[in-house]
Amino acid sequence: MRIIETRAELQAWSDGERAAGRRVALVPTMGALHAGHLALLAEARRRADRVVVSIFVNPTQFNEAADFDGYPRVLEGDLAACRAAGADVVWTPQTEELYPEDASTWVDVEELSLPLCGADRPGHFRGVTTVVTKLFLAARPDVALFGEKDFQQLAVIRRMNRDLGFGLEVVGHPTVREADGLALSSRNVHLGPLARSQALSISQSLGLAEARVAAGERDTAALLEAVHKKLAEATLAELDYAELRDPERLTLAGPQLEGPTLLAIALRFGPDPDGQGAPVRLIDNCVLQPGKRPS
Ligand code: PAJ
Repeated sequence: MRIIETRAELQAWSDGERAAGRRVALVPTMGALHAGHLALLAEARRRADRVVVSIFVNPTQFNEAADFDGYPRVLEGDLAACRAAGADVVWTPQTEELYPEDASTWVDVEELSLPLCGADRPGHFRGVTTVVTKLFLAARPDVALFGEKDFQQLAVIRRMNRDLGFGLEVVGHPTVREADGLALSSRNVHLGPLARSQALSISQSLGLAEARVAAGERDTAALLEAVHKKLAEATLAELDYAELRDPERLTLAGPQLEGPTLLAIALRFGPDPDGQGAPVRLIDNCVLQPGKRPS
């Protein structure tokens, strides 16, 4: 496995691979790799001849300095995990190269970036789309993989890929979960034990909504009421949002579910009452399928 730092070296490597007729996949990450990231890597292996994993904690997508500073950075472990999972290249760009001191160019996907996480984290998606553009231009992949856990991010990147004509294939991968349902996230390590147990209300509320829809419920207000009730069991948490939206345009669902509908949730946990853990914001989602009737 090759470790590359500079953009020029990565571009030269990628150009050489594609000239030799090999398909290149990119898995963009911020490191602190877990089984969710590694599932993307495994899928990349299936879809391409060469796999690049980028590891870069992108400063422009963080709203709070404390979140950026406290973001887990465990490069040695990440490199070992990439090696074991069969990555061909790990790219660890330097901030100064991706963001020269007087950098003033941004990529902004306007409407899709505004609701949900965009409302709670102004400028977040502009940071994501700007850095992902830079990653695409440097790695020049044929295919790039993203997790459905960050559903809005995936929708925004798909739109950017279409609008700007990158011409690469953007692949979404289902959310990887702990055995008890909690979606894997690099930020889970900050949960205190009590917050960790209360965080289950998120995946449980998704399961509850899916069960209600499978049983015939179509009323969005009734579904959201059930979801809110379940989420209220997380007494340590503050709700950022729990919303039903169109999975592509991210517009709010009407009063009745008519087709596949995104249920997206964000909760903020503080430290446990005994001081264990640190503030964490967790997101999760599922796409409700009203077409599917109980068998
Ligand atoms: P990061 O949070 O490190 O996630 C990297 C990729 O892993 C994203 O596509 C994310 O959706 C996916 N992922 C995270 N948890 C997952 C899970 N439990 N199951 C499946 N996939 C999961 O997302 C980012 O980094 C950044 O915004 C990035 C795209 C790298 C731009 O900086």
